[in-house]
Amino acid sequence: MTATTAPLLAPTTESIAAAAAALRAGSLVAFPTETVYGLGADATDDRAVAAIFAAKDRPSFNPLIIHLADQAAAEALVEMDARARILATHFWPGPLTLVLPRREGCPVSLLASAGLDTLAVRVPRHPVAARLLKAFGRPIAAPSANPSGRLSPTTAAHVAEGLGHRVAMILDDGPTAIGLESTVIDLSGPDARLLRPGGLTAEEIEAVIGPLAGVEAGLGAAIAPRSPGMLESHYAPALPLRLEAASVEPDEALLAFGLRVPPGARKTLNLSPAGDLTQAAANLFAFLRRLDASGARGIAVMRVPEQGLGRAINDRLRRAAAPRSAFPA
Ligand code: TXA
Ligand code: MG
Repeated sequence: MTATTAPLLAPTTESIAAAAAALRAGSLVAFPTETVYGLGADATDDRAVAAIFAAKDRPSFNPLIIHLADQAAAEALVEMDARARILATHFWPGPLTLVLPRREGCPVSLLASAGLDTLAVRVPRHPVAARLLKAFGRPIAAPSANPSGRLSPTTAAHVAEGLGHRVAMILDDGPTAIGLESTVIDLSGPDARLLRPGGLTAEEIEAVIGPLAGVEAGLGAAIAPRSPGMLESHYAPALPLRLEAASVEPDEALLAFGLRVPPGARKTLNLSPAGDLTQAAANLFAFLRRLDASGARGIAVMRVPEQGLGRAINDRLRRAAAPRSAFPA
């Protein structure tokens, strides 16, 4: 851990080899995935995993996602049933995380899964993440590369701002394509359950394995003990958020969506003038950061439809708007 800010390195064979070497040495490395930037450590090294929790100031009861090169690597760590294999075949590599029972003798640090007998695993689609996993040859534990409770980073500059002094290096491959974290599905019980809406829509998953539990539950499900990570205050800008805004005050910033934007805000950013949810997801965290720095009194947010990626967008917005006291850290 250094006092200075880590270098931002373009992904090359050399920089990826250096990142793999840093992971082998027990250091933290930030790297891009298709969803958001991750804060990576050797998932089999207790001390390296502990360093993730320390760097983020993350409660240790909030388990991490284990990133893997391919489905075979997942089979070695967790018990994959028929549902898991079908989902993996359809959506890996991609923005889908599966919670499954740990295999006996699974070498992943128990701290990474907060002592649970399940493990959250995903195979990312981003070529730099894939190359890093291949070069390292072991599972990488990686939460989003932001201080706990803050907005997830969609650029290397966001990572540097929040955690630049806690990592050995930041692999910089520009803004992430999806902009929202992976969808988390719990397959450890009889019902496939949505724990966190994300970059893969519930509709796409249901088209493959049928109805998911927890899809309509909204914020209620988010604070259930079933998904420990959901207890913390999350995705929070410094300014208060006001949802479902149809008009705006002159001292407010406006996060708009669609064509019919109320005039008069101190500063307006439009997630997608065309009403495209994919574009809105990609812009969400970066725009919240910019409005947070606009000098406004608060951020008014226009309605986003509760369907497809809109579910994940609204989930993040509701968390950002919720009173902080509702989310004990
Ligand atoms: O897109 C993503 O998923 C990003 C990139 C870097 O891959 N990662 C990410 O990690 O968002 P993180 O740590 O910020 O979120 C992990 C989520 C938390 O809500 C956590 O509670 C949940 O996954 N989780 C992890 N392991 C779990 C388990 N065994 N059971 C239930 N939930 C689990
Ligand atoms: Mg996170």
